[in-house]
Amino acid sequence: MPRIVLVALLAALGFPASAQVITLKFSHVVAPDTPKGKAADKFRQLAEAATKGRVKVEVFPNSQLYKDGDELEALQRGAVQMLAPSVSKFGPLGVRDFEVFDLPYLLPDTETVNRVTDGEIGRRLFSRLEPRGITGLAYWDNGFKQFSANRALRTPADFRGLKMRVQSSKVLSAMVRQLGGVPQVMAFSEVYTALQQGVVDGTENPVSNLYTQKHHEVQKFLTLSNHGPLVYAVIVNKRFWDGLPADIRDALGGAMAEATRFERAIAAKENADSLALVRKAGTTQVVELTDAERGALRAALQPLQREFEPSIGRELIGSVAAVAAQVEQDRRKR
Ligand code: LMR
Repeated sequence: MPRIVLVALLAALGFPASAQVITLKFSHVVAPDTPKGKAADKFRQLAEAATKGRVKVEVFPNSQLYKDGDELEALQRGAVQMLAPSVSKFGPLGVRDFEVFDLPYLLPDTETVNRVTDGEIGRRLFSRLEPRGITGLAYWDNGFKQFSANRALRTPADFRGLKMRVQSSKVLSAMVRQLGGVPQVMAFSEVYTALQQGVVDGTENPVSNLYTQKHHEVQKFLTLSNHGPLVYAVIVNKRFWDGLPADIRDALGGAMAEATRFERAIAAKENADSLALVRKAGTTQVVELTDAERGALRAALQPLQREFEPSIGRELIGSVAAVAAQVEQDRRKR
């Protein structure tokens, strides 16, 4: 039943619109004890407190409600109200601009990522989602991705012939092909089984995801490549968001801002703690690249920036590179 009809019916029964509890379903694909999982729960607490219980937030972690490939469509039809997908997953919506974040080594650190997402570039990217019925509220981060496989990945040649799971991003598939591997796009919830059964040989993710999904149990090597960030877009169904009473929307916006500060404050430590736990588990050899090895990997992947100018846009790639250069310049002045 459309909300507007329900409100009218309840009003006719003497229930003012302000008395009804609004349910906000927040679905995501990672474990609860990850930066995104903890921030989703933090948002739940903050949102229910800020709206004095007028909004009830139900968080569904670990692909319990919807998994990759289903969740965006579920949001668009209003079956869920909020998601926080990796920005590498908007390509199937026809929005490839976000794949600028997937270009290896373009964004060198989290400070650059946040300067890009919190500025004009981030706002412009969110505006690309509006025509698809999606409103972007915030960007969360989960540090940088590392490669894992059942052989030590030190040089581009080590990737040759490896089937590597990637998210649904043309850039990430091209990255694997550029290294001589075979990309396999797959839902995050299916990766552990695929690694265990040898359907894929390796993958890439921040260590917090590798550890909480137990990928270290089925990956003999973890290479600290830091080849690209994992960035989340916290998004809502536009019709739901625009239909909220203004005071409720403002309260939820404030809760989201605080949850974003919380998420960014824990992300680096969560990934460091996960790496310590991987080392302690002893199942996976951690490979530290030398400067020369990292340089060779970076050089092998550099051509992707030009290759993707037609689909992502030379101007957008250039703008992100300019932000990275500005961050570095500001850092030198400190
Ligand atoms: C992945 O699919 O590898 C990640 O985007 C999962 C996540 O949301 O962190």
